[in-house]
Amino acid sequence: MKRLSLFLAAALVLATAPTAQALGNGLATTPQMGFNDWNAYGCNVSETLIKSTAQAMHGNGMQAAGYQYVNIDDCWLTHNRDRNGNLVPDRTKFPDGIAGTASYVHSLGLKLGIYEDAGTATCAGYPGSLGHERQDAALFASWGVDYLKYDNCNNTGVSARSRYTAMRDALAATGRPILFSLCNWGQENVWTWGAKVGNSWRTTGDISPSFSSMLGIFHANVRLNSYAGPGGWNDPDMLEIGNGMSATEDRAEFSLWAEMAAPLIAGTNIAKASSTTLSILSDKAVVAVDQDSLGKQGRMVSSTGGHDVLAKPLANGDVAVALFNETNSTATIGTTAAAVGKAAATRYGLADLWSGAKSSTTGTISASVPAHGVVMYRLSAG
Ligand code: GLA
Repeated sequence: MKRLSLFLAAALVLATAPTAQALGNGLATTPQMGFNDWNAYGCNVSETLIKSTAQAMHGNGMQAAGYQYVNIDDCWLTHNRDRNGNLVPDRTKFPDGIAGTASYVHSLGLKLGIYEDAGTATCAGYPGSLGHERQDAALFASWGVDYLKYDNCNNTGVSARSRYTAMRDALAATGRPILFSLCNWGQENVWTWGAKVGNSWRTTGDISPSFSSMLGIFHANVRLNSYAGPGGWNDPDMLEIGNGMSATEDRAEFSLWAEMAAPLIAGTNIAKASSTTLSILSDKAVVAVDQDSLGKQGRMVSSTGGHDVLAKPLANGDVAVALFNETNSTATIGTTAAAVGKAAATRYGLADLWSGAKSSTTGTISASVPAHGVVMYRLSAG
């Protein structure tokens, strides 16, 4: 009898234990696009900054180009929870709170993102969400938050997968669709379990506005192509376009991120961005590669002596080809239609996505590529 009841109790536990499932929250069917303040402003976030950035995105063509999320990073909090245990926004930085900021952003047809941390404190030392997942997720939902970037500082050594899964379940319990962006810097091979837990996962440490930083992150992220797909993306970190690289390097970053189906999160001063910066961020043809509905991350076809060829299959059968010159001198980089995965045709169309020039080829794809630059083509059969 005792044995039987033990058996029944065990069976009950098994039957009611939550099963691991793919995230399936319906968000990020293509990589998310938006803005985050961290790269340009660090800890100096404020309601004024978020609202003026949203307004600029609304008016300057970025929203029309697909940028949707306006995201607050670290330092929006005060140092203590209130007596009910709730997080408290810093009222000197956010006089209308997060709810007031969200409602303004929503009035422009944009969405609001927030930042928290799967540890005892955020990276900048504000209260973290570890052990408070349900309460914090419910608070975010009540404020109208649409996106959570969830960082990994001060994590007390508990496994990332369990900490991030706790927040996934807390977000689901709110009933509000909230895009879940995992920021654990590639630890615990997050790409192998990220799609079950979040909509994107950082694959590396933080980016900085230099060609060498961008290059290192590109190499770490590009080899993970098989793990990305609709609803769950490798995240090589936010864009540094406009923050100090040359225009050639900025265009290279945007091309490579699009080729890798990466989240496109602008990280520069949007209200004061130059026309060059805005034209890179809003380039329709390159954004379309990133946002292609097939949802394949491009793969490295060849990489010799700093001359790289990438190929990303697209929904209509075209292939987006990027020729990337990592080196310090101009080089001719080439490949073939067969090498990038197009079955033999007698003639192919080639659209240069940055210049708009159209040409055709019997199979050879080749261009002179400036130092640190990318030439990007859309290859179509016939
Ligand atoms: C970590 C993250 C960054 C940023 C900072 C904020 O370093 O990786 O993207 O959010 O924390 O403190």
